[in-house]
Amino acid sequence: MPNATPEATMVARAIRPIRLEERGELDRVIVKRWGSPYTVSRGSLHRVSELPCLLATDGDRWLGVAVYRLAAGACELVLLEAFERGHGTGTALLDAVVEQARAAGARRLWLVTTNDNVDALRFYQRRGLRLVRLWPDAVTQARKLLKPEIPLVGDHGISIRDELELDCPLTDPSDRLTCQHVTSKPTERG
Ligand SMILES: CC(C)(COP(=O)(O)OP(=O)(O)OC[C@H]1O[C@@H](n2cnc3c(N)ncnc32)[C@H](O)[C@@H]1OP(=O)(O)O)[C@@H](O)C(=O)NCCC(=O)NCCS
Repeated sequence: MPNATPEATMVARAIRPIRLEERGELDRVIVKRWGSPYTVSRGSLHRVSELPCLLATDGDRWLGVAVYRLAAGACELVLLEAFERGHGTGTALLDAVVEQARAAGARRLWLVTTNDNVDALRFYQRRGLRLVRLWPDAVTQARKLLKPEIPLVGDHGISIRDELELDCPLTDPSDRLTCQHVTSKPTERG
């Protein structure tokens, strides 16, 4: 399971499930940030505010949100967003989703991200998730058929076309090496 970064201790952060009366606000936040109340993964449209959701909060302030979906013995991380980056919120939310998933009996955590999101690829791989599939042109198709709001160009000026699937087994709760935050420094490549 991933562990919180040292920065996590510097924020008065609580992680809790979203309340029913907060779901309208979640819709508004998601539309503002992602252009639509829906996300797409593997050809399916998900209404974010209807799914299980954890909030990271500091008092009344929302620090981040994690939305997930339990199905077929697996947990899909549908959306993870830290509203201020680099303070440990993303890691803390990922930890909490893993905990919920394990408690619900999920044997696998998985997610898709888009080919432009190299920052997220770094984040997830540093926390033990592995790249398991590439779905070429999945986003191009989703834009055409399901969600025209998906921008053509994403992070770092990269054209958004493909979905990348990452996963992490959750089968053994005592196996600290699955889905673990990697703290060691990278070795030099020769
Ligand atoms: C991916 C994301 C959720 C990570 O959340 P976060 O709260 O920034 O994550 P953390 O603070 O726990 O860790 C971020 C890592 O980047 C480092 N970092 C430092 N400053 C940072 C900054 N300004 N922005 C991002 N990361 C920063 C952290 O030290 C940490 O490094 P590590 O992997 O070596 O430990 C966040 O970047 C985000 O909301 N991205 C946009 C939405 C998105 O792409 N979501 C995932 C798509 S599925």
